[in-house]
Formats: sequence, structure tokens, C-alpha cells
Amino acid sequence: MAKINEYIEANKERFLSELFELLRIPSVSADPKYKDDVFRTADSIKASLTKAGADKAEICLTAGYPIVYAEKMIDPKLPTVLVYGHYDVQPADPLELWTSGPFEPVIKDGKIYARGACDDKGQMFSHVKAFEFMMKTNSLPCNIKFMIEGEEEIGSDNLGIFVKNNKEKLKADVILVSDTGIIANDIPSITVGLRGLTYLEVEVTGPNRDLHSGLYGGAVPNPINILCEMIAKLKDDNKHITIPGFYDDVEVLSAEERAEMAKAPFSLDEYKKSLDLKDVIGEEGYTTNERNSIRPTLDVNGIWGGYQGEGAKTVIASKAFAKISMRLVPYQNSDKTFEQFKNYFESIAPSSVTVKVTPHHGGEAAVTPSNSIAYKAASKAMETTFGKKPIPVRSGGSIPIVAMFKSELGLDTVLLGFGLDSDAIHSPNEHYGVFNYLKGIETIPYFFQYYAEMSK
Ligand code: BES
Ligand code: MN
Ligand code: MN
Repeated sequence: MAKINEYIEANKERFLSELFELLRIPSVSADPKYKDDVFRTADSIKASLTKAGADKAEICLTAGYPIVYAEKMIDPKLPTVLVYGHYDVQPADPLELWTSGPFEPVIKDGKIYARGACDDKGQMFSHVKAFEFMMKTNSLPCNIKFMIEGEEEIGSDNLGIFVKNNKEKLKADVILVSDTGIIANDIPSITVGLRGLTYLEVEVTGPNRDLHSGLYGGAVPNPINILCEMIAKLKDDNKHITIPGFYDDVEVLSAEERAEMAKAPFSLDEYKKSLDLKDVIGEEGYTTNERNSIRPTLDVNGIWGGYQGEGAKTVIASKAFAKISMRLVPYQNSDKTFEQFKNYFESIAPSSVTVKVTPHHGGEAAVTPSNSIAYKAASKAMETTFGKKPIPVRSGGSIPIVAMFKSELGLDTVLLGFGLDSDAIHSPNEHYGVFNYLKGIETIPYFFQYYAEMSK
């Protein structure tokens, strides 16, 4: 497939400008203010898939944002690859920390800066361009289906329903996703594990109104103080989570598996330096790479209450709030973990306050096989284009639909991602290397070629 490099060379500028068009649409699924833009993004992807050569491309409406579905069936006897990706993005704030507009893509030092550049518009669009290449050169070796959703960043609830209701339509042999990363541009890797998630919100109420902190201070429960004390009780001195039953179902890796994991190249010094950290912390007895992949965690993602304006206001707030998430590992269950958290949190609340715990979204962890034909095809494809065999690694991030692909469709997923941890996904100044974008376009057709050959 020497032609792919020529094709990329000849079309590079267009590949970039088409991606820029997509990046200019602020498809923030979390904020209703962007509703029209999110819908517009779905239309734009449908049009790109049609133009690239799909027989059928459609907008599938849901109770939330639409799912773009497309297919090119060449022969029912050949295997079918279902490509999944998402066109929605995380909110861009805090805006003042961006060096250029989040929806005004620019290339600086070989990197495309924009919200969604890496997660997931850039990675998803490399599939559209790889498909275009295979259609143009008549080299698509098997059937292909696309399912691109607009609610990944808010939990994929409607996609879950769509998958359950469209099993026939989504019939395939394997799922292919580019929404993860590699270790470094010269150290390719394939993600073989994702963590699950339980996300919730807590509200602690003290007095029935905000109070003068001099007249009442010391004599009444301050919900902010109490919320902080309660949060502090969620972990012990060894950073072990104290919620009863939390670890009951946690997958235990063997010493051999952990030794294998430890072989992946990693420098703690560089890790600290890249984050301007003096030190790392985490669960006693585990390495940094274990803490952020094979072990569950609990983090406060937001906390508020009381006076936040200019200057000082002497006040005791009536209420305090926090958003808390737990990353889960195989065999833990998102709903069960929510119940365990709720019971424990309510049990540690002093009788002077009332506590409300409300679930947000969740999802289960997934481990994908590293001995399947599809994995081997992905590995060989990366070896061809990077010149090095990729290392299987377990990631700490979550893509909730991956576990459902297995449970609902019985399908394994290959996580053929091209991002880097340093791409600042979900952060200000998200970016994606032009190298990575084009490497995706180059690698994907090899995956199809090898997968079709190996499936024979
Ligand atoms: N693409 C990411 C997940 C990811 C990134 C996995 C890098 C592995 C490596 C995805 O868009 C994401 O951000 N998922 C959310 C979960 C969702 C339910 C909000 C996450 O992990 O926080
Ligand atoms: Mn993503
Ligand atoms: Mn994301």
C-alpha cells in the first residue's frame, strides 16, 4: 500500500482544512447553549462520509444528540468492521487560559490547537479520510460501518439505547475505535484496557439560610467545613478508599501481569516534570502506572459553596456541593459502587446536616483481547507505519460504550488510538500533532488490509 503515503502527500492540505472545518463547530454536548452546533456537526460528518464513498449515510435521531451511521457493504461474505467515534467535545473553559480560540484551529509547532483536535474529532476524522483513500483506490478489502455519536463526553446514554435497539444494523465482526493514545510518537502502543466510571454529586445542607459568621460562627454546622471533613474520610493515610465493600470485586492482577506492565517505558522524573509536580501521590504499594490504570480511584472534580466573589464576606453558607467521580476496574459495577458510596457518605454525615447524593453518568471498565485477529492486524499495521511493534497498555480513561459493545453485541473492540498524554485533552490548549493525524490516516488502511487477509 505504498500509495497511501503518496495520497497523503498529495492531499495533506485538504485533509487539514477539512478537519479545521469540523473543529470550528463548537459541538459541546454538556452545554445546551451549543445545541444547534452539535446537530450541525452531525450533518457535516454525514456529508463527509457520503462524499468519501459511503452507500448509505444517515442521521439517527435519539432522545438527545444524533448518531451518524454510514456503511459501505461490498460483500456479505466478507468480514465487517464497525468504526466508532464521537463528534462531541468537552466544554472549552477556562477560556482565558487558551492561547488561541478553542474553536479557531491553528497549527503551531506542528500541532493543531483546538478543542476536540485529538479527542475525538481529529482521530475520528482520520477514519473518514482513510475510508476515502480506500474507496478512491478501490482497496477497501471488507465491509465497513460507521457509528459516530454526539454524547460520548456526557456518558453515551442514548447510544446505549441505540445499540440495544439496532443489533441487526450494527452486525459486525469487530469494533475499531481511535479515541485513545500511544506512549510516544516513537513508542507505539495499543490500549487494551479502559477504566469504568461512577460520577455523582453531593449536597450538604446546614442552616436554612446563609448566616453572619460572627453571630453564628462556632455554634452552627458549617456545611463547607463538614463537606471537607467528609471528603477527607473517603481515603485513609495509605490513600486506600474507605467505602465499605469498594474493593470487593476489584480484579487482582498476578505478579507476572504486573511485571509485564512494568516493562513499558516510563520515567517518573519526566512525568513529574511534565506536570510541574514536586512529587506524586497515590495508593500505597502500587506504581504510578498501576495507580492510573489497573487500580480504582476516587477524585473530587469540583467543589463549591459560600462566597466566591471579590474581597471578603463574613458568611456561613447554607449549602455546600461537590462533584465526585470514581474510576473503576474490571468486575466492579458502576451502579453498585454508587450505592456503596451513597450509603457510606450518608453514614458519615453528622446529625447536624442533611446530605443528598445524586448520580450522574457511569460506565463499566473493559479489557480488550491482545491475541485476537483484529489485535494482531492492528499491531502489524502500527509496526508497518511506525517501524516498531506496539506495546499493549491499559489506560486509565473511560469509553463506556466499549463494555456495552461486548455485553450487547458480543463484539470485541480494538483501541487503535494515536493521541499523546501531553495533548491536553479536556484541558485548555488541547492539541493534536499533524504527525499523529496523518499517521492515523496512514495506519488505518493497513489495519483493514491485514484484518481482511488474516480473517481468510
Ligand atoms: N477519549 C476519552 C477517553 C480516553 C482518553 C481513554 C485517552 C483513554 C485514553 C473520552 O472521550 C473521555 O474523555 N471519556 C470520559 C468518560 C465520559 C463518560 C465522560 C472520561 O474518561 O472521563
Ligand atoms: Mn474521546
Ligand atoms: Mn473525552
